[in-house]
Amino acid sequence: MSNLALSHEDVASIVSQSIRKQNVYKGFTFRSPAVTILGGNCINQIGDALLELGARHILIVADKTVNKLGLVTACQDSIVMAGLKFTLFSEVCGEPDSDLIYQGVEILRQSQADFVLGIGGGSALDTAKGIAVIEDYKGPLSELKLGGISSRKVGLGAVPTTAGTGSEATDITVIKDLKNNIKVPIKGASLVPDIAVLDPNLMLGVPAHITAATGVDTLTHAIESYVSLHSNPLSKAYAYHAIETLITALPIAVGNGDNLDARYDMSVSAYKAGLAFSNSGLGLIHAIAHQIGARYDISHGDANAILLPYVMVFNSLTCEKEYAELAVALGVSRDSMTQRERCRVTIMAVRELIVDLGLPTSLANFNVNKQDFSKISKRAIQDICLMGNPRKVSRVQIEDLLDKVFEGTLPAGYQ
Ligand SMILES: [Fe+2]
Repeated sequence: MSNLALSHEDVASIVSQSIRKQNVYKGFTFRSPAVTILGGNCINQIGDALLELGARHILIVADKTVNKLGLVTACQDSIVMAGLKFTLFSEVCGEPDSDLIYQGVEILRQSQADFVLGIGGGSALDTAKGIAVIEDYKGPLSELKLGGISSRKVGLGAVPTTAGTGSEATDITVIKDLKNNIKVPIKGASLVPDIAVLDPNLMLGVPAHITAATGVDTLTHAIESYVSLHSNPLSKAYAYHAIETLITALPIAVGNGDNLDARYDMSVSAYKAGLAFSNSGLGLIHAIAHQIGARYDISHGDANAILLPYVMVFNSLTCEKEYAELAVALGVSRDSMTQRERCRVTIMAVRELIVDLGLPTSLANFNVNKQDFSKISKRAIQDICLMGNPRKVSRVQIEDLLDKVFEGTLPAGYQ
């Protein structure tokens, strides 16, 4: 062998350096909970699952109402049966704010719990996430940046009692900073729960309108994720299948809340759509919905329902192909249709579903002042969700969209 020959170590070093230097072609990282448990009555398994994860003392963070309805009892019983301790913090009654989070952090420290478990709707899960990560963060909330929290000392789990936000699968929480009166979105790997437990039995009592609105939130997550500029093969697969399941299950869950199969399918849909958008981002619908929801006290699901068909028509200029693909998931595609026709029937099917569910289709019945549209567009254009939208949008275009949404008139061909 010549003296110029490279050793195995030299070759390995050159190859690894060269790989590091190259741009990763279409690379992505996909994050999801380490453990997911799903099924009717699976809440009874949570104690053993937490034991397996090494937890000893659980801080249960619950919605006030969910606790009053007795939905936390089975969870507590299972934890005790597994020989674990728990402390209950059931003060959640709305979107999490800094006071609530710091109150929870104090209880976490006093109790010396090593695991935070959220149980309830999106607000309870977001509160649990906030408590778990803020416990390990020293700075002021207002200075938190997206991805600004990279670690947590305690375990984190999520038990949703509605099928909507998908928070049990996502790396996001939003906390209202009361000192500066701003909503602070926090996003990062440490926000992904270690365990998600989806028991459709806990969702049987959700009222029809909330089931409809939270269900359309799920649909919006899936549609925005599917066409997001930052989508990837895995997020697209989850988004597509979330829609395929939801289109059959949601009307049944709204019309017959006792139907366990429909609740099961909706819990799966919300989880899949949560995984999808957590790994791809959202778009213009959420960017505007955040603004009109806060300004006019419109629920998040209702705001999405109002905006969804209008923004789809707007975005169809750049994602006709993707919307056409969704016609198959929605069951409205025919072999004879062109891509353009498939795109159009997808948007019409979404609009029809929203009408069938009894959700609002325009801003006309809300106490909306058209003079606000300029301020709304200014904030929407800065919303973090806009980054993934497939079509570039200006403030003038957002205001034009809001005019159409106010009047409730979709363009000809989409009526
Ligand atoms: Fe949402």
